[in-house]
Order: sequence, then C-alpha cells, then structure tokens
Amino acid sequence: MSVLLQTSKCIFRKPFNNTFCKYVFLRKNSDVPKKFITFDEVVAQRRAEAMRSVVVQVNSDSSFNELYGYCSKYASIKDIHHYKNSGGEHFMVIEFASEDNLKDVLKSCSSHNKDHDVISVQSPFLWFRAAVGNKEKFAATGKKLAVKNGTEICNEDVLLEDILNCETVSDQIQLLYEKTTLNDLSIRLRYIVARQLEMIFNSLYTNVKIQPFGSSVNGFGRMGCDLDLVLMNSITEEMGAASRRLVFQEKRSARQLELAGALLELRVAGVARLTRILNARVPIVKYAHEYAGLHCDLCYNNSAAVHMSELLWQLGELCARARALAVLVRRWAAATGLTQPHPGRWLTNFPLTLMVLFFLQRTGLLPSLNRLVSEAGKEDIRIAEENVNCTFLRDLNKLPADSYEQNDDDLQTLLFKFFEFYSQFDFQEKAISINEGKPIRKPNSLPLYIVNPLEQSLNVSRNVSYEECERLRLEVRNAAWHLESCLDGKKSDDWGILGLIEKKSSRGLKKLLRVGNSHRLVSMKDLFSDNDNEPSVEGIRSKMQKFV
Ligand code: CTP
Ligand code: MG
Repeated sequence: MSVLLQTSKCIFRKPFNNTFCKYVFLRKNSDVPKKFITFDEVVAQRRAEAMRSVVVQVNSDSSFNELYGYCSKYASIKDIHHYKNSGGEHFMVIEFASEDNLKDVLKSCSSHNKDHDVISVQSPFLWFRAAVGNKEKFAATGKKLAVKNGTEICNEDVLLEDILNCETVSDQIQLLYEKTTLNDLSIRLRYIVARQLEMIFNSLYTNVKIQPFGSSVNGFGRMGCDLDLVLMNSITEEMGAASRRLVFQEKRSARQLELAGALLELRVAGVARLTRILNARVPIVKYAHEYAGLHCDLCYNNSAAVHMSELLWQLGELCARARALAVLVRRWAAATGLTQPHPGRWLTNFPLTLMVLFFLQRTGLLPSLNRLVSEAGKEDIRIAEENVNCTFLRDLNKLPADSYEQNDDDLQTLLFKFFEFYSQFDFQEKAISINEGKPIRKPNSLPLYIVNPLEQSLNVSRNVSYEECERLRLEVRNAAWHLESCLDGKKSDDWGILGLIEKKSSRGLKKLLRVGNSHRLVSMKDLFSDNDNEPSVEGIRSKMQKFV
C-alpha cells in the first residue's frame, strides 16, 4: 500500500514502511504552476521565527512538561523542538507566538548575578534550573504541542542499507537527498545562533545585522554542514538620507573582525575554540558553538556572498532536481577525496555546485544567469561592497516558463549525463560560466576555470592544481563507467549510487569480507583492535589472514 504526496514538481509515492520511495516527475505543463516565493521572504520569515525563539538546556527530554508549564506562565508557545548536542546534552527550542512574548520571557530570566566575574548579557540561549522544592514544579496545562525531534545526522549504516533497498538509482538519489538535507530544526537553530550574535553586537553598534549564508541557506546544505555568517551594516536608505543633518561621528576601521572575535570569545555563551584568520582575501573568525553543535565562520561586510547564496537558492527553486543531484555529487566528491574537509589545492563544494548548475543549464533545465539579469527590473538592483553588481531577477514568477525545466530526464539519467558531460569537457581550453550557460574560452592557463558568477573576472577554482583537475577528469570517467555497469539491473552491494558515495577504503573492506571470507563468519570485533580508529584495508587484510 502506498500514499501519494503531490508536490508542484513531482509525485512521491511512499510505501508505509518507509524504507524507500518511488517518484515520478510530472511534465511541468501538466502540473499546477508553482508559485515561487522570494529568498528575501524566506529569510524574513526565518529571522522573525528566530526573534521569537529561545534554546533552553534541560536535564533530559522528560523536562518538557515542566518547562512547557513554566514558560506558558509568561507567554504563549507556538512550536517546540528537542535536540541533543554532540556532548549528549539536551536542548529545547521554543518558538513563542510573538516577539513581545519572547521579551516577557527574557525579562523573567535570572543570571549568575552573585558571581562577580560574570556580567550577564541577553541571549536566546538559556538553561532551565531544577525547581526548589515540589511546590514550585509546574505541570503543563491545556493544549500541548508535540515535541519535534532532531538535529542528528542520519546513521550512516542505516542510510546505506536503505539506499541498497531502493528499486531504482533515481530512488536512491532522492532518498539520499531527503535523509541528509538540512531539516527545519537545523535551519531554525542556525538563525537563532545568528540572532544571538546580533543581540550582543547591537549593544555596541547602531545598525548591525548577522545573516547566515552559504550552504545553510542556499538549499544545498546537508545536516551538520558548517554555518557561514556575515556581520553587515543594516543602515536603511532612510537612515542614510542626506536630509538628516545630524550625523554620528564614526570611527573607520578595517579591523572590525578583531573586535568581533574578542566579543565572541569573551561575551558569547556557547562559543569555543575560536581562531582568527585575518590575512585571507575574505578574513574570517572561526569558532564552535557548543550548545548548537555547529562550526561557524564569521566574516564582515560580504553581502556579495549572501547574494550568491540567493542565486543558488533561486536556481534550486526553479529545478528541484538540481538540489538532489548536487547533494549526490557533493557526497561523491567527498568519497573520492576530490573535496577535503580542510582547504588546499583541491575542489570545494561551492565550485562543484556551480558545475552541477552549469550542466543543468546545458540540458535545458535551468536558465543562464544572463537570462535572469536581462529579466531584472529596478526593484532587483543590488550593489554589494566594492561595487559588485548583484542584480538579477528576484521574483521567479516573472520568468517565462519556457526558460527552465525543459527536460523530463529522471535523476538517474541526469546523473549519468553529468558524469559523461564532464568526462568529455575540454578543461584545457574552456571555462565553466553559469552567466553564459555555455562553455567560454579560458582567459588564462589555470587548470580549472569556473567563472565567479557575480565577479566575472574571478575564478572560484583558482586554487585547484593540475593534478587535482586530472583526478577530477579520471573520477568523472570512473563514475560514468560505474553507472553504466549498473544498467544490467543486477544488484551488487555497490549497486547504483552506493559505488559512488561509499569511501573507497570501506568499499575495499566490504569486498574483502565478501571475497576472502565466504566460508567462515568473522566478527568485526576480531578485526579491529581497540586502538584502531580508522583501520586501513591493508591492516584488515593482514588480520584476516589469521581467519581465512
Ligand atoms: N562564496 C563565494 N565565492 C567563493 C567562495 C564562496 O561567493 N569563491 C560564497 C558562496 O555563497 C558559498 C559561501 O560563500 O556558498 C560559503 O562558502 P563555502 O562555505 O566554501 O561553501 P558552501 O556552499 O557553504 O558549502 P559547504 O557546505 O562546503 O560549507
Ligand atoms: Mg559553508
């Protein structure tokens, strides 16, 4: 038995046991036209949500009733979520009905005001003290909201097993996307972390705004991805108007991030392991947020990066397949080692995503950026710092329907075509440009050239070495071969995307266990000694000699 969930672009047919999903893409014209909302509307809604939310540390998830009852005394609760951080500590995210409600709750909070070395600041991160005596305990009354769970990353073994059980490669790609994409609670938390900084910085600056950008908001983020934040001046046109004759005397300094770093280190609860990288092209302060369980990068006045996130988000809105495909390609690149967790002479996720979008432009699924620029009106004009022109159409409802989604290929076909396209791409002579939506002549001899869509004189992959570019060419060929070999329909344990997203070392290990040990069962414990954190295939092979 199955249920049909119809979205604007496709039908998801989910079996009730939920182990896998089947879906069929509908032709755009046979579907109800999608009503697009703008990125600014999504951001405004998320910011408003954060402005009426708190994160409360509690003893356990069973503290819910008491916390609910206590908070209901001060304000009306709209929504409530629960999560655990990596240290196993429990937190409740409570969204109140209004910002005023939140203000009332914050007014009722106490601080460590008896400790001389703690000066309290208002922040949305709180903890719920155990009640003094039974009489102070509160029970929830009236209508209760269910607690929604989770910021945890899906268990890898369960995920791979579910992917193995899918019927088609397209189902596998869709499942990977659904199980690993950032969920609602993770996005909420990211905006609350931004709001926490904003509250603290607002006590120093007149008009400051902290905005999440990058994969946290561009629609291509996976659970657990880093949080990119930008500290921006939020002066409105009215405030900057020449008719206002009294003007603040202001201190100019290019070193605002130094102060931000110090503030974070000294005043912001939850911040740990802060480092400053101030001599980079885009200086950043990196830190861990222990309560939210996030790694954050904060930069200063970089609104072009926010508009870049907006652009990526818009292209993902135009074609839902772009997101699922990009998530898979990012996983594949990490598994093959084409991308690494630390920076270096290799690809990163952002240029890789541009490669996916460029390919989709070539297949008629997405318009070129030039097209979005030519459709832009006065209301779309945005000029970022250093005069970077970030003008392009914001209201996608104005885009002619024949400029996107002109192709019914399923995800499996698109994935195969993606690898085939890049295995034939002339990296030596051509650059990738999502502005043009077609390959252009390379302006220099750097091994990989991907035009920065908003600053076209820049190459977003200028760090990539010749060797890494060669490896990219080799890996796309391998991936295309692998997918071709799956066409016979036989399901081995690296069937479909499993052969693309499992790390090579663990794939080797699996094969070894299958081939070398068919006549005898060996416990995994026998193979791993206590100090083997990440055993190599060679290590396991030598241990297996004892058993085979
Ligand atoms: N960015 C940019 N130009 C670059 C690199 C990055 O404009 N040369 C912007 C993009 O908007 C990008 C964001 O900065 O999305 C954050 O960069 P990064 O963290 O490297 O990429 P993410 O897209 O956030 O991916 P990840 O999940 O790997 O963090
Ligand atoms: Mg990022």
